[in-house]
Amino acid sequence: MKILLTGGAGFIGSHVADRFIELGYDVVIVDNLSSGKRQNINKKAGFYEADITDSARLKEIFEKEKPDIVNHHAAQAFVSKSVSEPQFDAKVNIIGTLNLLELSVKNNVKKFIYANSGGAGYGEPLCLPMGEEHSINPMSPYGISKHTAEHYVALYRHLYNLPYVSLRYANVYGPRQDPYGEGGVIAIFTNKLLKGEAPSIFGDGAQTRDYVYVKDVVSANVLALESKEAENKSFNVGTGKNIQTQEIFDKLNALTKANQKPVYRDERKGDLKASSLDSSKLQKLGWKPSYDLDKGLKETADYFKGIQNKK
Ligand SMILES: NC(=O)c1ccc[n+]([C@@H]2O[C@H](COP(=O)([O-])OP(=O)(O)OC[C@H]3O[C@@H](n4cnc5c(N)ncnc54)[C@H](O)[C@@H]3O)[C@@H](O)[C@H]2O)c1
Repeated sequence: MKILLTGGAGFIGSHVADRFIELGYDVVIVDNLSSGKRQNINKKAGFYEADITDSARLKEIFEKEKPDIVNHHAAQAFVSKSVSEPQFDAKVNIIGTLNLLELSVKNNVKKFIYANSGGAGYGEPLCLPMGEEHSINPMSPYGISKHTAEHYVALYRHLYNLPYVSLRYANVYGPRQDPYGEGGVIAIFTNKLLKGEAPSIFGDGAQTRDYVYVKDVVSANVLALESKEAENKSFNVGTGKNIQTQEIFDKLNALTKANQKPVYRDERKGDLKASSLDSSKLQKLGWKPSYDLDKGLKETADYFKGIQNKK
């Protein structure tokens, strides 16, 4: 079985590729390396440096590779860029997804797995944790584009009988996350602490997020791939826990023995006070987060220590 995996040079997509290959699937990666890195690409995967907005190039790739499954992780994933360049964000996240859907129908793909965002789509929570039925009220162009693409994914099932699974992630963390990005607070804090620098906390540190370890996100992708029952549904992928930013800082400060104090800065406009996802729908199909925060943070800190030691 061949899987065409977009975004397989990125943080989450590269872990998904590694696991699929371990399980014996054939994986072909499509990535334009805009935020992904060549060194993340599994050596046993096929690789096309290509842009998902380039439909002619994608057509060639689909016709040559004839994938059975599409697993779509490529995205313009920066909230701030989506605010400054909403057209670009929509082009990659909506038009790019539509290109893949069109080609999936034309090439008889058997399942389309879509990586969506939970928090960015639901917006300000009306209850915690938020279930899949929570109202959709995106607070950024990124939230709109990611959620709009999910509508297309579901519509293509309705119009053309293309089976799908949509996974709505909480805040994903783990090895290979970009420590210079805007959102991965765990990667950013760990990297700074290991360099002996003081991380910034925007606000008083009491804001909460639902942090899910990347390997648990990978197991959700395996379930989406292998389960018939999961088809044609959207699932939250999170722990349901509300973890304060201050707690993340304190745990990482202890793990790295950095002995730093955070610099508290003004809250950022548009940052949510709290966000967590109810994943009971996915848990009913057998998925369960297997990493608690301490174990996940330790693996992440060990990874970043390893990188710094190599330098
Ligand atoms: N990291 C999170 O916490 C999180 C939360 C919710 C949803 N997601 C979703 O998960 C997916 C992966 O996110 P990530 O955190 O691994 O980000 P990432 O930036 O590490 O990965 C995205 C990958 O897509 C590639 N890409 C970007 N634009 C492309 C284009 N036009 N054509 C081809 N490739 C392109 C990048 O080079 C990169 O390798 C995204 O769809 C994102 O929206 C992530």
